[in-house]
This record gives sequence, structure tokens and C-alpha cells, in this order.
Amino acid sequence: MKVLVTGGAGYIGSTVVAELIREGDSVVVFDNLYQGHKGAVHPEATFIKGDLNDRAAIDSVLADYQPEAIMHFASHTLVGESMENPFLYLAENVTNGLNLLQSAVDHGIRKFIFSSTANLFDDPERMPIDEKERIVPGSPYGESKYIIERMLYWLDRVYGFRYAALRYFNACGAGAPERGEDHYPEYHLIPIVLQVALEQREKVFIFGNDYDTPDGTCVRDYIHVLDLAQAHILALRALDQGSRTYNLGNGQGFSVKEVIETAREVTGHPIPAEIGPRRPGDPATLIASSDKIRRELGWEPKYTDLKGIIETAWQWHSTHPNGYNDR
Ligand code: UFG
Repeated sequence: MKVLVTGGAGYIGSTVVAELIREGDSVVVFDNLYQGHKGAVHPEATFIKGDLNDRAAIDSVLADYQPEAIMHFASHTLVGESMENPFLYLAENVTNGLNLLQSAVDHGIRKFIFSSTANLFDDPERMPIDEKERIVPGSPYGESKYIIERMLYWLDRVYGFRYAALRYFNACGAGAPERGEDHYPEYHLIPIVLQVALEQREKVFIFGNDYDTPDGTCVRDYIHVLDLAQAHILALRALDQGSRTYNLGNGQGFSVKEVIETAREVTGHPIPAEIGPRRPGDPATLIASSDKIRRELGWEPKYTDLKGIIETAWQWHSTHPNGYNDR
């Protein structure tokens, strides 16, 4: 299948691109390199530098390459940033997504995979969180993703647009050894902890140890990026049977302390940690139920233990201490 991937130079997008190519699909990456890296793009993918705020540029790529499907990763993705600069999310994420969707409809494309988020579940009533959980976006970031989910719903009703909305919990690990996480600045726990092991940071701050969890630190569902990639590919192949929405996690929670302890074991470094104040907006526990995608598509995450996940991340970070070396 010929697939256009927006954000295909980013952490998750570039991993999915590599997996698509491995399965024999042909891929065009459309990315403005704002957070992405040219070096992350698989050499067999066609790379187009472009911005989703430029409708004419999208039209021209869709006309030139005529993809059968689109995977849309490109977006601003930081909860904290969205609380400080909401229009980056409520305006840019939304209008960029809208440009892409309008152009897709105009060019007769009817298959779409969308990167959504667990930030739709700020106040879950049940744990693990399944797709029936009520939607309470936790930030303008989550809201921007939900607005696009609603657009997709209507495009399906009106045009028979087939989509999958995939709500990621905590993406992590590396499509080791050549592809991994390289954000600047970095805000995510696992890469921060590994930067301490590389002595690029002095210590990690634990954002609060007085949560209602077994060890007092926040519990998250860490899902390996290669398992995420597999879910995207299964969802793409299933679109002919209809649109769908899935929560994607590995179904287990690990605390901040457990992550740090496991990283000490994997790296052999003491990784100094200090308890700091809570980070505003962090829910105590977020664990996904992915029963629906397991049942419907036979998805089975391979990286379910934290040690295996952190080992792949360490393999990437220790061999690429400066990421893609393009800063
Ligand atoms: N944490 C620390 N110290 C740090 C960094 C993080 O203690 O230096 C803690 C956080 O408080 C949180 C956990 O580690 O409890 C994980 O934090 P991340 O920033 O790695 O990830 P989040 O759970 O905050 O965010 C992730 C995704 C978002 C998504 C969100 C859904 O990165 O894109 O889950 O709730 F929106």
C-alpha cells in the first residue's frame, strides 16, 4: 500500500515508517522537521519537507503521490506546553489536522490513521481505562486531539471516510538500534532518567511521592514504540471493515520509582533521584485496557516487562548520546 505519513521524522512516526517499509509498503513522509529529524527517516521512504499549515503543499503531495492511506502523527504533543500556550494546540494542531483532512477528502483518500492520546482521560471512573470511559480532556493538547477525533467521526458518517483513532498511553523504548527518542528539550521520564545515566544531567526529580499509589509515585502504562507500530499497521489493514477507536497500552502500570530502579539495574549507574513537588495536572494512575484491539485485531504487545523496554531505550541512548546529532 502507498501511505503518506505526516510526522514521519518524529519518534513514533519514524518507527512506524520503518515497520511499514519492512512489510513492503511504500511510504512518503511529510514533516516540517520542527521536532523531527531527517536522520530518523528510513532511507527507502520519500521525504518531503513541508508544513501542514500550507494547504497547497499538502494538495501537491497528495496529487503527486496519490497515497491510498494517510497516517497523521505530526502535531504538538506536550501537555505542559499546551497549558502555557493553548493556541499552539487549539489553533495549530486543529487547523493543521483540518487542512490535511480537507485535502484528503478532496483527493478521494478514504483511509486515515490518527495519533490520539490518553490525555482524553483526565478523570477516569474505572481502571484500566477502556474505550467506553467518559472523555475528559486533561489539557488543550488532549482537547485538540479530541476535536480531530470528532471530525473523523463526521467524515465517516458523511463521506464513508475510514479511520482508526489510536489513543497512546506512554510511548517509550526504541526501534533499536538505529531509531529512538530525541526531543529537545526532553520532558519524558525514561529518556530523562537515561540522560542521568549518561551523566548529561545530575539527577532526576521525582514529581511527587504522596500520590495514592503503592509507593506514592505516579503509575503509568509504558507501551513500547514497536508494539505501537504494530497496532498502527494492523489498524491500517483492517480499515476496509470499518472505522475504529482503540486505547493502546500494555495493560500494566509502573511507578516512577520502579522506572528509576529498573534503569539503575539496566545501566549499572546509580542514577541519583530527588523528590520534588508534584507536577500540576498529573493524574495518579493511568493504565489502559487494550482488550478491544487484542480481541478485534489480534494485537499482542511483545514488550510487556519494564526491563526489556528500558533495555531497548538504553541501547539507543547509549549509542546515540546526542540523538540524531542535528542540533
Ligand atoms: N516524571 C517525573 N520526573 C520527570 C519526568 C516525569 O517524576 O523528570 C513523572 C511524571 O510526573 C509522570 C511520569 O513520570 O508521573 C511520566 O511522565 P511523562 O512526562 O514521561 O509522561 P506523561 O504520563 O506525563 O505523558 C504521557 C505522554 C503524553 C500524554 C500523556 C497522557 O507523554 O503525550 O501521557 O496522559 F498526553
